[in-house]
Amino acid sequence: MPPTKAPRRTTPPLILGIETSCDDTACAVLDGEGRVLSSVVASQLASHRPYGGVVPEIASREHLSNWSRVCAEALEPLGLSLADVDLVAATRGPGLVGSLLVGLATGKAIAWSLGKPFFGVHHILGHIFSPFLDAEGGPSVPIPEHFVALVVSGGHTSLFDIEGGRPTVLAETRDDAIGEVFDKVGKRLGLPYPQGPIVDRLAEDFTSSGMGSGRDSGVEREVGSTVEKGLPVPRVGDGNPYFSYSGLKSAAIRKLEVLERSGLVWDPAEPAPEFLALLADFRRAAVAQIVDRLERRHRLHPIATLAVSGGVAANRLLRRRLTSWADERGVDLRLVPLRFCGDNAAMIAHLAGLRHRRDPEGDSWSTEASGRLPISAP
Ligand code: KG4
Ligand code: ZN
Repeated sequence: MPPTKAPRRTTPPLILGIETSCDDTACAVLDGEGRVLSSVVASQLASHRPYGGVVPEIASREHLSNWSRVCAEALEPLGLSLADVDLVAATRGPGLVGSLLVGLATGKAIAWSLGKPFFGVHHILGHIFSPFLDAEGGPSVPIPEHFVALVVSGGHTSLFDIEGGRPTVLAETRDDAIGEVFDKVGKRLGLPYPQGPIVDRLAEDFTSSGMGSGRDSGVEREVGSTVEKGLPVPRVGDGNPYFSYSGLKSAAIRKLEVLERSGLVWDPAEPAPEFLALLADFRRAAVAQIVDRLERRHRLHPIATLAVSGGVAANRLLRRRLTSWADERGVDLRLVPLRFCGDNAAMIAHLAGLRHRRDPEGDSWSTEASGRLPISAP
């Protein structure tokens, strides 16, 4: 007889999280100590791919048709049903409003019918606190009273100061987000969406094969120095720091065009090393800008804890660079576990669990979905 699995230790309340802000339908179950008991994400990539991007109406319809299956996949393996849930959380913004409405209305309806509290969660705040989740389903790490959060995704490149759970923006991108430029540079080569992970893998294979000179040679080369021949890292003055990625995107695309004019053709089956070297250099410059801004902040206001989240937090070079940067400076680095980098409902349930400790009543039933929700929204 197979060994029986020991029942998992859980602490009330049982939290149901729902995330439908863009093109992933996600449901998660967490306990009161932040243990992720289940986290299911149904990707809609195949439906949007033919259009080269996310089609809002298709996304809303797919959330509607995916929801019951995703919810059952999150609850049933735990031997639970909706009736066991103690509180419900759903993303209320920012995102595609039609997509948000599906998750928010579903969450409110479940909470209402159970007579349990409901929490409408800010998507970016969900990301900000996600590095404190445990990848293996253990209790989440206690949140420091004060920390700095970096969110790097397809829509954000933002640095926040978090004090008592409340965020203040330290730096934002002035133009494109880092994930967006990874996608656009990859798209220029005809790679399928999302191009970021593919560009990362191509750059990684190239640098680790030893073909490129852009080997992972430590932080010092990047910070405070201008890379002479490679793609530029925009410098900022002594005023408020900011990120900027559109210049890097245009420079990388111009260099791709130069390669093409020289007669080289991109062959996905056997990419020419010149293209791979360019992608590796692009990745180096994109990551170097992040490290530069962190260093700048750290010199003025030493960072004790840095929490890094969002889809681009899966980038291998970024993870390595941040790890060595933080080690050298004694910064307590919290890198979001890989499984919670992209959009997921565990981060939404987690934040609701934290809020529930201070405010057991939850949010009003009139909580609305908002496509553009400021981070400071109450
Ligand atoms: O957080 P996320 O799932 O969705 C939002 O944008 O909110 O982030 C998705 C973004 C996409 O732009 C994707 O290409 C990028 O994260 N991404 C990466 C990597 N994995 C995902 N970019 C660079 N390197 C990666 N390994
Ligand atoms: Zn996100």
